Amino acid sequence: MSANRKKPEELRSHRWFGGGDLSSQGHRSRALQMGYARSDFTGKPVIGIINTWSDLLPCHAHFRTRAEEVKRGVWQAGGFPVELPVMAVSETFQKPSSMLYRNFLAMETEEILRSHPVDGAVLMGGCDKTTPALVMGATSMGLPFIYMPAGPMLRGNWHGEQLGSGTDRWKYWAELRAGRITEDDWREVEEGIARSYGHCMTMGTASTMTSAVETLGLTLPGAVSIPAADSSHPRMASATGRRSVEMVWENLRPSEILTPQAFDNAITVVHALSGSTNALIHLIAMAGRAGIELKLDRFDEIAQRVPVLANLRPAGKYLMEDFYYAGGLRALLNEISPLLNAGCLTVNGKTLGENIAAAKIHNTDVIRTREKALSQSGGLAVLRGNLAPDGAVIKPLAAEARLLKHVGPAVVFTDYADLRARIDSDDLQVDENSVLVMQNAGPLGAPGMPEWGQLPIPKKLLKKGVRDMVRISDARMSGTSYGTCVLHVSPEAFVGGPLALVRDGDLIELDVTARKLELKVSESELAKRRAAWKPRAPHYARGYGAVFAQHVTQADKGCDFDFLHHGAPTPDPDTHH
Ligand code: FES
Repeated sequence: MSANRKKPEELRSHRWFGGGDLSSQGHRSRALQMGYARSDFTGKPVIGIINTWSDLLPCHAHFRTRAEEVKRGVWQAGGFPVELPVMAVSETFQKPSSMLYRNFLAMETEEILRSHPVDGAVLMGGCDKTTPALVMGATSMGLPFIYMPAGPMLRGNWHGEQLGSGTDRWKYWAELRAGRITEDDWREVEEGIARSYGHCMTMGTASTMTSAVETLGLTLPGAVSIPAADSSHPRMASATGRRSVEMVWENLRPSEILTPQAFDNAITVVHALSGSTNALIHLIAMAGRAGIELKLDRFDEIAQRVPVLANLRPAGKYLMEDFYYAGGLRALLNEISPLLNAGCLTVNGKTLGENIAAAKIHNTDVIRTREKALSQSGGLAVLRGNLAPDGAVIKPLAAEARLLKHVGPAVVFTDYADLRARIDSDDLQVDENSVLVMQNAGPLGAPGMPEWGQLPIPKKLLKKGVRDMVRISDARMSGTSYGTCVLHVSPEAFVGGPLALVRDGDLIELDVTARKLELKVSESELAKRRAAWKPRAPHYARGYGAVFAQHVTQADKGCDFDFLHHGAPTPDPDTHH
């Protein structure tokens, strides 16, 4: 941590508010116009509260009031809070995929901080893409920042049975299609599965990424496990606001926190949680913004030594509310502390080790001890082979164990429209040993790499009782999904990756223990198919989509824009205008 506390005249915002020039006079007069007293903003750290609230982001429905609670903390600590709304990237409502807009929000976050009189930031996020996007943008900007997580929603309920976000939606959708529940049952599930504000309460992408961010050291200790509707949550929001002011005086910048060791810690916790496969893409992108080149294989190396301790759906039994009562993330981190770099600095000025030292597990079925782990090695595996030369990902604990070593004939869908048109057809040549393959669902192919990777089981097999099959695509999968789904196949089909060359009936071998994904077709035949392959037309001719298409990287590189991933810092603007 920086030894020197900042002086008021050294604040970045002083350049806007403190000078004797005409511009500064204009900035002061406009702050006074908004009803602030001179003493409200003079010589005080200006904290930008980056708020991802919208009427179409139910996970952040409480962010209007939470922003006020963050502001309360900033005022209490002697700062000047300013709320800056940014795009509320909505997992549920935004199409074709929220992933298309992760980099948009990252750019917006970086630029809104750079262009305004801000000394530090509180990032308010939680729904899937908002967490990596906010952290990516704020890391590139480099000002002191702290993350304020939305918190998980309360447990779902249907006829006394607990329902988990996403996970139970897929489950009961399959039951409805198989004719085992009624339309009325299905409507009741719809009404009971999302009972409060807050993000998905399974160990989906939201809980995975907020947990990774706390482990990186970017939240107050214990913040991410608090349910959104618990009264501890607004108290945490105010404490976050208070701390943000001190971080500015201490000049505690992300570059001191986001080290390679901190990213190893984040990868470790993702495995111990059996977290979402999306974490691989997001952590690679976030690390890139901190100047750290994180390779896909690092996830696999760390996976070998990390037991899965969180008994949370979709890999386990419980929900995030149970996790909180069982001790929350700090308790889990303490249990795996020998596997962590305990000396990493965090936003409260203490080390990760200091923050977790006193945490205890209160329910060892929800948070397992290392001796009673759900699995002795990590929750995600990286596969390679001639079908995925740059890698692919699978979540073994979410799969039926018998399918983790499997050889079967491919049933190929050329894109998502083809899948939807034919998957339930009586004519589809498929049985339980088939391998379902979907092409053109990657970063460029879909576009935006949607969460289509949990390909539906064909209806005629569902009726026979089949609930899992090997499925392969260049798409992502919701962290709340389950099944033997091989995802993120790189390079994707749209750019001519080997996935584009698979034909119906080709044998495909999956061997998760050997980390292998092979297309059992001769090299000479593949060369012939490669020569005949024709690229599809790009999806966008203009606008943000065209920028995305020109600059997005493949899944193994984090799907960041190539011009944002690395590079020299952008200079601060001249304030004399
Ligand atoms: Fe927002 Fe799941 S829809 S976290």
